Amino acid sequence: MKYLLSKVVFAGCLLLGVSAMSPSIAAGAATGPAKPDAAKGATLYEQGDAARGVVACVSCHGAAGNSTIPANPNLAAQSHEYIYKQLTEFRLKAGAKEVLRKGVDGAPSVMTAMAGPLTEADMQNLSVYLTQQKLTEPATATNPKLLERGQHIWRAGIPDRNVPACAGCHSPNGAGIPGQYPRLSGQFPSYIEEQLKLFRAGHRANNPMMNQIADRMSDSDIKAVSDYAAGLR
Ligand code: HEC
Ligand code: HEC
Repeated sequence: MKYLLSKVVFAGCLLLGVSAMSPSIAAGAATGPAKPDAAKGATLYEQGDAARGVVACVSCHGAAGNSTIPANPNLAAQSHEYIYKQLTEFRLKAGAKEVLRKGVDGAPSVMTAMAGPLTEADMQNLSVYLTQQKLTEPATATNPKLLERGQHIWRAGIPDRNVPACAGCHSPNGAGIPGQYPRLSGQFPSYIEEQLKLFRAGHRANNPMMNQIADRMSDSDIKAVSDYAAGLR
């Protein structure tokens, strides 16, 4: 009996230890609480949870992550690690003074309020649900005049300003590399452009590499490569 009791106490401590960890560490550890549940993610995505103040994601990001409004990015077929990371970075991390991913002019992103009420499990479930969805309505390039310049930056970078080729990380066809580099193909050109400007201004401070890359690009470089990346397949 004594033995059993100490085992129960030990298990209780372990559980406490896990829940007290910061979300990002908990996600990386193999001992994460429950397996992500795509069906629960789908329900939360479509219906939200009014009792907990979770707004239905579908109202902005469209059916199954296919947005019809360029200001709201497509989320379908994006890597789940990337989606999860973004959701945690729209929120204020424990001990941090500032949110890592802010919006235009450094004002809070719309997403900071949306991500606030999500639990660790919600973020995992939503990420797994979204990564399984097909990008059925990908955005396209809009300006043929920008194609040549955009393609050049994508494939070769801007060597005299130390801008590396985007293709080297985001992959030649823009699909990204799950777990490492997000998909850009089929994303709205205006959204890609805005994110590069947020990286350049440092308002989006969740990836020093992208901050440096964007810092070396002019407005017209950014416009051209954003349009090109959107149209990649
Ligand atoms: C009121 C509209 C709105 C709602 C509701 C909303 N979003 Fe967003 N979402 C946005 C906007 C706008 C952005 C771009 C934010 C920025 O750049 O700061 C965004 C960005 C994101 C991103 C980053 C995408 C990327 O490519 O980096 C993720 C992930 C995301 N939202 C997930 C969700 C989830 C999950 C929900 C539901 C819990 C949700 N959003 C609800 C408007 C919304
Ligand atoms: C060395 C690797 C690397 C290179 C080269 C690179 N990127 Fe990135 N990029 C990343 C990583 C990693 C992220 C994810 C950052 C995060 O976690 O938020 C990212 C994110 C982005 C995003 C945000 C996507 C979203 O959904 O919000 C855009 C836009 C982007 N990169 C555009 C570019 C462009 C354009 C180029 C070429 C000029 C480029 N990147 C070159 C690694 C790279």
